Amino acid sequence: MSRILIKNGHLVDPANQRDEVCDIFICDNRIEKIGSGLFDEDAILIDAEGKIVMPGLIDLHVHLREPGFEYKETIATGTKAAAHGGVTTICPMPNTNPVIDSVERVKDLLKRAKEAPVHVLPVGAVTVGQAGKELADIRGMKEAGAVALSEDGKSVMDTALYREGLYEAARCDIPVFAHCEDKSLVGNGVMNAGKKAEELGLPGISNAVEDVIAARDIFMSKEAGNRLHLCHCSTKDSAVLVKMAKEQGLLVTGEVCPHHFTMSDDEITQDHGRFKMNPPLRSREDVIALKEALRDGVMDVISTDHAPHGEEEKNQSMKKAPFGIVGIENSFALGYTELVRTGYLTLPGLIEKMSVNPAKVLRIEKGNLAEGKVADVVVADLTEEYEICPEEFFSKGKNTPFAGKKVFGRIDVTIVDGKIVYQR
Ligand code: DOR
Ligand code: ZN
Ligand code: ZN
Repeated sequence: MSRILIKNGHLVDPANQRDEVCDIFICDNRIEKIGSGLFDEDAILIDAEGKIVMPGLIDLHVHLREPGFEYKETIATGTKAAAHGGVTTICPMPNTNPVIDSVERVKDLLKRAKEAPVHVLPVGAVTVGQAGKELADIRGMKEAGAVALSEDGKSVMDTALYREGLYEAARCDIPVFAHCEDKSLVGNGVMNAGKKAEELGLPGISNAVEDVIAARDIFMSKEAGNRLHLCHCSTKDSAVLVKMAKEQGLLVTGEVCPHHFTMSDDEITQDHGRFKMNPPLRSREDVIALKEALRDGVMDVISTDHAPHGEEEKNQSMKKAPFGIVGIENSFALGYTELVRTGYLTLPGLIEKMSVNPAKVLRIEKGNLAEGKVADVVVADLTEEYEICPEEFFSKGKNTPFAGKKVFGRIDVTIVDGKIVYQR
C-alpha cells in the first residue's frame, strides 16, 4: 500500500470551496483524509509548509507526436513534461501519423500510454485521416476511449460534412474541440496581420480567419445540439461570440492558451520560428480582451496547445518554420504570473480554469480533492521568482518565446493516482 502525507500545505480546492492550511493523507490512489494534525508513521512525508496544494491540472490540448513524429516528442517525453508542469491529465490531439481516426488507433494510443506517468485521454479525428472527406467512426472511437473529437491543425471546411459530424457527436454525447481557421482565408500567412507583420515583411493572418469559423461552428452546433469547445481562442471577437453563445444557453465553452494572454504581436522582436504558432500572437487589444473574458467567465478553460517541434525546424524564419510552441511545463506559472498576480483571476479562479472546468468539459470526476476522490494532487511554490529555462524541460521541444522570462509559480510535486510522478 502506498501512503503519502502532505503536511501543512495551503489547500486550494475550488470544487469544494476549500482555501485553508491543512494536511492531506493519500492512501493508495485516493484522498483518504483531510484535516489538521494528521499522522502516519509509514507514509512518505511531503512538507508543504508555505506551499499551495491543488488538484492536478487538466490540459485539454496537447500534441504528443507519437506515432509518426517521435523526433519532436514521444508519449514518454510529453507525459513526463506534463508531470513537470503539474498536469496530471492530458488530451492528445489526433494529428499524428497515422491520424487517430479509428477504433484501432484509439486503442493503440491507449496501449502506448499505459505506462505513462499521467492520465492520457485521447481525442479522435472528426474525419478519416483529417482529410475532410468522410466522417471517422465517431461512435466506435468514443466506445474505445476517445473523450472528444477534433480536427485540430485545421477546420473541417466542408460545412455539410461537418454538420453531419456534429449531429453524430450529439448522438454519441462526445464534445467537439474546434480549431477555428478558414483555410481559404489564411493564404501563406505566418503571423498576426498588422503593423508588426508589415514591419517584418511577413504575410499576415487576420482575425477574421478565426472569427468566421468560430461563428459558423457555434451556429452549426446550435442546430446539431452537440457540445462545442472552441480551442485556443485568440481574438476579441471569439470572446464576443462565446459570450453570445452562452447568453443563448448553447453548450459552448471557450479556451485560451497562456501565450495568447501573455504576449502580443508587438513583442515579436524578430522573424524567428519561436514566435510562430497557430492561431498567432494577436494585438494588445485582443490580449486584453482575452484576459477580461477569462476574468468574466466567458472563457472557461486554459489549455496549452503544447506543440513540440525539432530545434532546426523552429530555428529559422517564420516563413519556413512549422506552427507551434511548447507550453505544458510553464502553463501554471504563466497563468499565475499573468492573471493572478495582475488581479484578473484569484488563485481558486485560475485553478478552476486549469482543472475544475476542463473536467466539466469532459464530464469526468477530476479537478476535485474531496475525501474519497482519486489522488491527482499538485504542490506548488508561489513565493520564489524563477526564469523559464527550456534546458530544464522534459519535453523534446524547446521551442518557446518565453525562455528567460521571469515568473512565479513553480511546481514542486506532482502526484497521479496516489503516486509521486514528479518531485523537484
Ligand atoms: O500552433 C499549432 N501547432 N497550431 C495547430 O493548430 C497545430 C499545432 C501542431 O500540431 O503543431
Ligand atoms: Zn489548433
Ligand atoms: Zn493544437
